[in-house]
Amino acid sequence: MSAARNGLAGESTGLPRHIAVIMDGNGRWAKKRGLPRTAGHSAGADSFRRLARHCQKLGIEYLTVYAFSTENWKRPREEVDGIMALLEKYLRQALRDMEKEKIRIRILGDLAPFTPELQKLCRECMERSAVYTGAQVNICLNYGGRDEIVRAAKKWAADGCPALDEERFGGYMWGGDIPDPDLLIRPGGEMRISNFLLWQIAYAELYFSDVLWPDFDEAELDRAIEAFRHRQRRYGDVE
Ligand code: FPP
Repeated sequence: MSAARNGLAGESTGLPRHIAVIMDGNGRWAKKRGLPRTAGHSAGADSFRRLARHCQKLGIEYLTVYAFSTENWKRPREEVDGIMALLEKYLRQALRDMEKEKIRIRILGDLAPFTPELQKLCRECMERSAVYTGAQVNICLNYGGRDEIVRAAKKWAADGCPALDEERFGGYMWGGDIPDPDLLIRPGGEMRISNFLLWQIAYAELYFSDVLWPDFDEAELDRAIEAFRHRQRRYGDVE
């Protein structure tokens, strides 16, 4: 994603051009109902699908979600397998419904540790949906903010260390051509960033909610956008 600020997106329409979400609270949602954690992730995947459509309807150009972090491999095998199965299911559905949904899909992160089947699905979704220009979802997989910055530095070094500024360095990130998020939402009650988009959220507005991600519906998203509309973005300048 570009290091440059997003310019007038939020100022002209009042809407964030790019929303990023840490989809937190799936485990607790399931526990409250006496269900396995995977059921919470499944409800979380449904919530993601609903909100991607809602963003598209509202005219929000980019939705970026944290689906699997570089640290999530530490979770029990069963839970990791469950999340992988949900990702496969989502990508297959996306391929099937692509012409109807018209959403561009990008996967950000190092896909090397995933099964060849999941990697192939990711590539197919990215390639086939690249024609859609209206709305884009970015799914961060095996993603870590610090890892991304170190990889960017390595790519820059491998390029022969060309002259550097913030914009150029941002171009070495996974989605180097995507504008930075205007609004970062974290449902689930925690108030931390958890290694998500560390470089790109320099000027993002932060919105925290106690609602667990599977319960974070269209009305909750509207509330977050409404809060964003009342923020004054100064980028370090005076009023
Ligand atoms: C965090 O909640 C959530 C995850 C680590 C996984 C998110 C994955 C999905 C929603 C499924 C697949 C995604 C897509 C895009 C189809 P948590 O488990 O840490 O919740 P807790 O804090 O309540 O335990």
